[in-house]
This record gives sequence, structure tokens and C-alpha cells, in this order.
Amino acid sequence: MDQVRVELGERSYSIHIGAGLLAKLPSLLPALSGKQVMVVTNTTIAPLYLEQVEEALSGFQLDHVILPDGEQYKTLGVLDQIFSRLLERRHNRTTTLIALGGGVIGDMTGFAAAAYQRGVDFVQIPTTLLSQVDSSVGGKTGVNHPLGKNMIGAFHQPRVVIADLATLLTLPDRELSAGLAEIIKYGLIWDAEFFEWLEHCMDRLVARDIDALAHAVRRSCEIKAEVVGKDERESSLRAILNLGHTFGHAIETAQGYGRWLHGEAVGAGMVMATELSIREGMLPESMRERVTDLSIRAGLPVKGPADMDEAIYRKLMAVDKKVLDDKIRLVLLEKLGKAVVTTNFDPTNFSATLRACT
Ligand code: NAD
Ligand code: GLY
Repeated sequence: MDQVRVELGERSYSIHIGAGLLAKLPSLLPALSGKQVMVVTNTTIAPLYLEQVEEALSGFQLDHVILPDGEQYKTLGVLDQIFSRLLERRHNRTTTLIALGGGVIGDMTGFAAAAYQRGVDFVQIPTTLLSQVDSSVGGKTGVNHPLGKNMIGAFHQPRVVIADLATLLTLPDRELSAGLAEIIKYGLIWDAEFFEWLEHCMDRLVARDIDALAHAVRRSCEIKAEVVGKDERESSLRAILNLGHTFGHAIETAQGYGRWLHGEAVGAGMVMATELSIREGMLPESMRERVTDLSIRAGLPVKGPADMDEAIYRKLMAVDKKVLDDKIRLVLLEKLGKAVVTTNFDPTNFSATLRACT
């Protein structure tokens, strides 16, 4: 088993990574504030893992709430089901919420924990590759609004993250690919050597080799922990974690939540960010083929939806959280392993990028 620490002073916590961790839950949990626990999960994950988790937590006053499955249910309306269940079952301020699922469940449970009785503890048990390498770490929580993705939320750090690699064996192929997009992101923005390792090992990851997954999840979490430890609230550095996301959020919003997976939209968005970095003269031409090839081997789209034109991208990218003084801010690549956040790019290159990647 691997352990990565997120260093945030009194809010520091561990990320445990390994196969078979669900059975070891009690030994991995920190001392909880009280005896009450509410597991939040969804209709797909409950039949697979809820019983195992509840058995491991049998010493607690245990309740659960099972939400509908899908990005389209990551809303304020559905969030209310968690609050209602907590109130019906008389959970108090010492309760702990447990997010058992992917990024949708993790983001919603974290936001519910941030708001319930002005803040209670929560634990992340991420069961998708994307949530193990990204969304369960760093404390961003929230829900979508019809006018923009993740627009309503709060920063609220979990007490611990428990990433059981064995849960990845039941994940649909498309979801595995979506997680691989975020893993490729870490190589591009932070660690050229890790990107090269991915070029060597992508086939093992796609085949769900546990040792390869363990390395990829650990290195991704180390990078995310380092970035979040330096800039928890995204005043500067943390924005680099959004490589490809501004393009990707536009794709998700235009297509309707749930049609393109978040990781797929980010995958196409990273190809666009790479293309724009090359056109801006920041990145060598050879990176176009390297990023595209690796994305294809990961099972990711390398072009945006054919029905989206530049005007749609511009309109939707203008509501991104990174927009500053009405200027679209993008994460671009200065070189492999180094990202910059900038509003300073040539509009002609931006238009040409969208044409090349659609
Ligand atoms: P998801 O939560 O929708 O899960 C994907 C699908 O896999 C769902 O149908 C889910 O029920 C199913 N599933 C989950 N675990 C499974 C398992 N072990 N076996 C079989 N099926 C399983 O999607 P996701 O990709 O995990 O997360 C995407 C969400 O995360 C988006 O809402 C995105 O905005 C958010 N996100 C948040 C952050 C953050 O920092 N908070 C970062 C990245 C993404
Ligand atoms: N996924 C981007 C972040 O956590 O900041």
C-alpha cells in the first residue's frame, strides 16, 4: 500500500492507495468526531461496494443515501436528498459523510459536508480512476448549474482519501480512459519523466495492470498534493491543474452534462491547449503527435464535437471560473512538464486551433 500526504497544516490528510483497501477501512480511517456516519453513493456503485463498506463500518451508527447516477444529477436539487436523509436520521454536527463513488458523488458529498450544519467531516472513497487521481484530492466540492459547470461549491478538504485500486476492475472502459486523461495532464504540466513513463506504459494501464495503475495513481496524487499544498484556494499555481478544462467545460456544457464524459472533454481540451501552445511558438511541433498518439492509445477523443463552432466555444468559455476582466484565461504549455496560465495569446491562433481540433 502507498501513502501520499496532502500538507495543509491542521487540515492535512493522507491518501491511501492499494488494492483491497475497502476491507481494511477501519484501520485506515482517522479518529472520527462522532459515532454517526452517512455513506453517500449511487445506484450503480451501491450494488457493487456498499455492503462491503457497511460491513467494515459496522461499529458506527450507519446510514446511507443512494443517489441517481450521472453528471446530469450533480445539481442543487439532488443535493437536497442528502440533506433530507441527514435530517430524517437526526445526524448532528459530529457526523461524518463518506463519499463512495466517482467524482460526481465525491463533489456532491463534499459540498453537502461543507454546508450541513455549517460544516461536518467527510471521507473520500473514490472508485473511478479519475476520482482517484484528481477529484477526491484537494477539497474542491460542488454542483453544476444549467449555465455553467461546477459553478456552485465550496473548498472543503476530506479527512482522508482511500483509493482502492481493486474497484477499478469493474469500471467501464470509457470511464478508465476518462481517468487516463487526467493522468496524462500531470505529465504535461509537471513531470516530463512521468509523461515518458506513460508513453512506455499506456498499454499496461489500459489493460488494468495493478502495478502500473498503482504507480500512475501515486505519482498523480503526489503531483496534485504538491500543487494543492502550495496553493489550496487557486490564487495562482493551482490553476495549472485545469489544462484542457476551459475547452473541456465548453464541450460538456454545449453537449449537455453526461453525453461527453468530463475526462473525454478534458482529453480533447488538452489536445487543443497543446495545439495552441505550438501555434504560439511555445512548444515544439513534435508535441502535437506525442500528445495525440498517447491520447488515442488511452482511448480518448482528440477532436471536439463536429457541431461546435468557434462562436459556441467563445460564448461558453467566457463563463469559465478562470475568466478575468472578461478575458479568457487558458493553461498553456511552455515545454513538456511546465504549464503557464495566460490571457495573452493571439486570437488568430485561438481560432485556428479550434478549426484544427474540431
Ligand atoms: P462519475 O462520478 O460520473 O463516475 C463515472 C461512472 O462510473 C458513473 O456511472 C459511476 O456510477 C460509475 N462508477 C463509479 N465507480 C465505479 C466502479 N468502481 N465500477 C463501475 N462503475 C463505477 O465520473 P468521474 O469521472 O469519476 O468524475 C467526474 C466528475 O468529477 C465531474 O463532475 C467533474 O466535474 C468532477 N471533478 C472534480 C474535480 C475536483 O477537483 N473536485 C476534479 C476533476 C473532476
Ligand atoms: N481539478 C482541478 C483542481 O482540483 O484544482
